[in-house]
Parts: sequence; structure tokens; C-alpha cells
Amino acid sequence: MPAKTSIALAAGDGIGPEIMNATLDLMKCAGVLEQVEFIPVEMGASVFATGNTRGMTDDAIKTVESCGVLFKGPMETPKGGGGKSINVTARKLWNAFANLRVFRSLPGVETVYSRAGVPVDFSVVRENVEDTYGGVEHRLSSDTVQCKRLITAPGCDEVHRFAFQTARKLGLKKVHCGHKANIMKMTDGLFLDRFRATAKDFPEIESADVIVDALCMNLVVKPQQYQMIVLPNLQGDIVSDLCAGLVGGLGFAPSANIGKHISIFEAVHGTAPDIAGRGLANPTSLVLSGIMMLRHLGLVKEAANIENALLVTLESGIHTSDFGDKTKPAVNTFEFSRAIADRLGQKPRAGAVPVPDANEPPRERHERPHGQEVIRTFKGIVTSVVGADFYLDTPLSPIALAEEMTRIAGDTPFKLSLISNRGTQVWPTGSVYTECVDYYRVRFELKDGVAAGTIGQSRTVALMDKIAEKFTVCGYELLRLFDGVKGYSMAQGQ
Ligand code: NAI
Repeated sequence: MPAKTSIALAAGDGIGPEIMNATLDLMKCAGVLEQVEFIPVEMGASVFATGNTRGMTDDAIKTVESCGVLFKGPMETPKGGGGKSINVTARKLWNAFANLRVFRSLPGVETVYSRAGVPVDFSVVRENVEDTYGGVEHRLSSDTVQCKRLITAPGCDEVHRFAFQTARKLGLKKVHCGHKANIMKMTDGLFLDRFRATAKDFPEIESADVIVDALCMNLVVKPQQYQMIVLPNLQGDIVSDLCAGLVGGLGFAPSANIGKHISIFEAVHGTAPDIAGRGLANPTSLVLSGIMMLRHLGLVKEAANIENALLVTLESGIHTSDFGDKTKPAVNTFEFSRAIADRLGQKPRAGAVPVPDANEPPRERHERPHGQEVIRTFKGIVTSVVGADFYLDTPLSPIALAEEMTRIAGDTPFKLSLISNRGTQVWPTGSVYTECVDYYRVRFELKDGVAAGTIGQSRTVALMDKIAEKFTVCGYELLRLFDGVKGYSMAQGQ
């Protein structure tokens, strides 16, 4: 008999243990436990309570890394006290770079679309590691704080490739890229450029882009026009919860966090402290996430069986107290999963999933990395220094600041070319209507006659040193050309 596949299991907090027990019982009834072994790991509130700010023990980390798959219930994020969200930590720690969520109308789950006879069935892939979720934040002045938004070419490539590969696997015909590249031309611009580059490798799949605000409206007005949407992290976070609303709420949206080495399958909703321990929780989201996990592991037969049984159960009107026909009594968490188990082998009237004769071979694991690898998309690019932006904490007016900066730059290779405040140009020209705060950007570029590439970075650092004698420099960005193309944006109004 082949060895069983090992899966790390963290039941979670609040309603986590209730919905996890119900889901595991269902998996046992479906014969899953003959092929997989669940290894419990310690994560969540009980670990935070010991002072561990990561919320997971070293043993838990080792087990997840050796299994390559974590099945988890919702976990409480401690409020204050330095404890970070386990969900974000886990995705970043193990580079689970793509968050895949499937949104599908389910029988018995009434929504405005089901009432209107509009079927909803599409997927969202959210980049899971970068963007503002890097959590690189600073207080820059008394009145100003900053969160750095990092978007990288390798990060974009990984998530776009995953989106197109998933679309190909699911037989989808079109992938949309959601973005805000009209405003954030460099960050979202890169996300969109890499989407277009990746699309070329999937010629059989149509690709298109859509600005995220228009996307939100389209999703509400006509969700059936989308099959697969890929988005940067924060936009993807917001859009995917909007999409959950289209199919009846977070309780019906499964989620997979896919990485090259480690993938995490979890319910989308939280720990529901208001109903925890009362047997009221709806296990559907976790059951659907478990189905995604079984497919990921090649257990496509069991996945299809459980999915069909869930659909039959919903069609029959059986429901927990959070949804369904209120004139019929609700069942509890365990009764709901047992109702699904009792219907294993049955086919729903609509949307039945074909049950394959055999499972797929288990996924091949990539070898554990020997060290941390630097992945690079663009190689051999020639860069040249053309100036620097300095960020200053100062209450001076733009004109007074310009006078000081012009004087300081006098005998350097740089001239002051612009001052902006909150991204809007306030010098050499500007508007009296622009309100300024105590945090400025001053931009220095090469004086006329000094050619790009003839000075090194050290000259910009020497200039910063001179400025720092009199001002608080709270940030510095080097201005460079990359193969002759400006690697920085213009100010608003420049
Ligand atoms: P929540 O999703 O736990 O609850 C929101 C509302 O939905 C509550 O009224 C709750 O009773 C209901 N609800 C949620 N899941 C349900 C289910 N399966 N069946 C029936 N009703 C359900 O969101 P909330 O209250 O904002 O967060 C509570 C805790 O969960 C927080 O500590 C938060 O950090 C954590 N959380 C964890 C997540 C995860 O582990 N993936 C995701 C979201 C929140």
C-alpha cells in the first residue's frame, strides 16, 4: 500500500475546532483518511498566550515544512501586544504567493443573483506576499506616517503564471488583470506589464485588464462576465471579500494559499467568537477549502464525491442557522457535516461534478531550498545615477525651503529641480490652494553639463550629509536611469 500523504493540521481558535472536527469526520466518511494522515500542530491563541509573538511553535513550523501542506481553521489575531496575524505570517514565511478563491452560486444559498437567476462562477487570484502587506511602515514626521508598497517583477511573474496555469487547468477562456496602473504607473504598471508578458505564454487564453474601481462596479452589475481575475495584494483582498458577498458571504468562499513548496488551505471567515462553542457554525467554507486541498494533492475522486454530496445537501434545504430557508429548522455544525456524509455517492440536480475513475498521481515536491535564493527577472540592465530625492521633516514654507536647498547644493554637481508635498509639486511652481504638511520631498538632479553616469551614488550621499547638518532627512531615494529610462515618477503637477 502506498505511503499516506501527510498534512499538517491546525484546528484554529473560536469556532475552528468545531468546524474542523465536522470537516474531518466528513473526510473520514469519504475515505480520505485511508490516503492521508493529519498531523496536529500548535498554532493560534494558545501559542500567543505563552508569549510567542509568531503564534506557532518551532515544532509546528518543522511539521508544516516537512508536510508541504497545512490545513487550518480560523485563528484569532491578538489585538495589540506585538502578536501578528498568523495568516499573514504563514503566507509570507512560506512564500505562499498566490491566494486562490473560488466564488460559485450554491443551491439553497439565496443571494440577489440567485433570485435573479444569474449564475456566479469565477475565481480570484490575489498576490499574497508583496504590496503594502510587507508591513514596512514608518513615522516620518510628527504628522506623517508611511507604508512602503513594494511590487517586484519576480513576485508578479509567479502570481500571473499561477493564474494562467489555473485557468488552463480549469478550462477557462479568459483571465483579467485588475489594477490601478492609471494612477500608480510604476507599481501597478509593473504588475500589468508582467501580466501582459505572461499572457503571451498562454495564447489559447484571452487576456484583458480592468481598472480596479471599474472592476468592482462590473462585479456587482454583471459578475458573470468574469472567469478569472488576478490582482495585487491589497486590491485583491478587498475585491475577494466583495466577491464572497456575491455568493452569500464569507461562509461560502474557500481559499487556498499556494506556494512552490508549501500551500495553506483555510476557511476565509474568522473565529466567530460570538457563536464559538455553541455548535452553530457553518462548516461549508472549510469543507470547500478541504475540497481544494484534496484536488491539490491529486485526490480528485474524493474531492468530487464530497463536493457533489455538499451540493445535494444544500439542494435539499438543510442549513445551519446563518443561511437558508428560515421556515425550516437549522441543524448544528456536526449534523450539517453528517448530512453531507449521508449523501456521499449522490449527484446534485444542478452543477454535478464528474467523479473521475481514479485519483491523479501525488504532486511532486520540490527539493527543500539549500539557502535563500535571489530570484531575478531583469538581468544585465545598465543603470546610471542622475540625482536623488530627499525627504525632510520640516515646518518651513516651500519658498523658504527652496532657498535653503539651493544654497546647500551650490558647489555640488546637483541642482534643486523640484519640491513636492504629499506628492504635489509646490516649487518651482505650485498652487496656493495646495495645503502642505511637515514632510517634503526635495529633488536634486544633475546640473547642466554633468552627464548621466559620470558620478556615482557617493556624491548623492555627500549631498544628503550636507542637508542633514541643518535638516532632519527621514528618507532618501536614488534617482537612476535603467537602460536610459527614468526609474522614478514625476510629481503631480510637474
Ligand atoms: P468573523 O468572520 O469571525 O465573524 C464575522 C461574523 O460572521 C460574525 O457574526 C460570525 O458569527 C459570522 N461567522 C463567521 N464565520 C461563520 C461560520 N462559519 N458560520 C456562521 N457564522 C459565521 O470576523 P471577525 O469577527 O471580524 O473576526 C474574529 C476573529 O477572527 C479576529 O480575531 C480576526 O482577527 C480573526 N480572523 C481570522 C481569519 C483567519 O484565520 N483566516 C480571517 C478573518 C478574521
